Amino acid sequence: MAAPGRERWSGQAGFVLAAVGSAVGLGNMWRFSYLAAENGGAAFVILYVGLTLAVGIPVLLAELAIGRGAQQSPIRALGHFGGPAWKPLGFVFVLAGFVILSYYGVIAGWTLRYAWIAITSGFGADIAERFGDISEGPDAFLFHLGFMALTIAIVGSGVKAGIERASVVLMPALFAIVAGLALWAATLEGAGAGYTYYLSADFSKLWHPAVIKDAAGQAFFSLSLGMGAMLTYASYLERNQNLPNESVVIAGADVAIAFVAGLVVFPLIFALGLSDKVGASTVGALFITLPQAFAEMGGVGRVVGLLFFFALIVGALTSAMSLLEVVVSSAMDGLGWSRARAALVGGGAITALGAFSAFDIRVLDVSDQFANNILLLGGGFALCVFVGWVMPDPESEIRAGSGEVPWAGIWRLLLRFIVPVFLGYVLYFSVPDTLRAIAGLVAGSP
Ligand code: PHE
Repeated sequence: MAAPGRERWSGQAGFVLAAVGSAVGLGNMWRFSYLAAENGGAAFVILYVGLTLAVGIPVLLAELAIGRGAQQSPIRALGHFGGPAWKPLGFVFVLAGFVILSYYGVIAGWTLRYAWIAITSGFGADIAERFGDISEGPDAFLFHLGFMALTIAIVGSGVKAGIERASVVLMPALFAIVAGLALWAATLEGAGAGYTYYLSADFSKLWHPAVIKDAAGQAFFSLSLGMGAMLTYASYLERNQNLPNESVVIAGADVAIAFVAGLVVFPLIFALGLSDKVGASTVGALFITLPQAFAEMGGVGRVVGLLFFFALIVGALTSAMSLLEVVVSSAMDGLGWSRARAALVGGGAITALGAFSAFDIRVLDVSDQFANNILLLGGGFALCVFVGWVMPDPESEIRAGSGEVPWAGIWRLLLRFIVPVFLGYVLYFSVPDTLRAIAGLVAGSP
């Protein structure tokens, strides 16, 4: 199974940090706080953690098993274990990389812009109005371009010399900043009201299909599942790593950062009495309310704001790298392109596609719904079927490097029956909704 000449991580730490880097991103800080606030606070958090354990970890381990087993990029890896009929799924993964990174890069561009504002002028009271100009139009595209250039440069430098080197430096910095900010936020007067809002549970909302759909979509998006990103990263592993343990560590770090980010966001907003302004939109809490809080804090706000948006940039960058790597590795394996060429051409095309989201925020919103509710959940469903029913002996793949895995049987059972049935249920609700949203956009109604 050795693939001579294939790029490699330097070892376990390099891989795990890169994979955690992929998982921890805008999803943890941008989507998670917002969804938790909207959907019943702690009740949503509990549901989300439960789904990460029961659905996220099994699918993550499935992706790791395929990638490491095949030692190839997604399209070829699926063909390797499933025959040509499964290759189209790999193309869908590459398509998902295009779609997600095109709008993800635009949001990441906003965070770059905010860090820039913190450095140059500090946040002003007019940030809500300014966000209009920042988020849509030529400015949005310009910062998207800058962010994409950075991503392309790193991915173009290689798995070890680019992705791993960046992750090993940046991820510990992100952990330190987010933990430090959470501690600092606890000292604010009025933080208690923020914790109460965040952590009081409203269980009555839990059983709505829409809430379950949000929690499942968030678990997938946040863990970078359903589009071959983790699969691709695992394809650079030797077969001596303990995949089951690593899947638990990656998921644990992802949930922990999302949770702690909430401990930063809510106390800040409540300490400054801005709570009535949360939840107006997916972007509201992060890009309008928080900067308003930073503006009111003067000099301290500038420093804290800079740290906060720097952490967001780091999260976004290490996630964007994995999105681009799916496209790049596929072009390298499938077309025989050099890494540099694949990164430039693939990344360039994605940057251009991002213009649609940069110039029309409704495209961004609908792309996010399409990616999550259809591409990632659908991709996850297909991955379960693949590893549960098609791939020969996946248990022995996860045993390689880890010896006996007590939950290997449960894992296979989850992938065969329970997770696909659950995802089928979620897709049943989310697909019609999403198609309606797309139709609405195409028809031109807001
Ligand atoms: N997990 C990333 C985040 O939370 C987003 C992502 C999704 C990255 C899919 C790769 C693949 O921001």
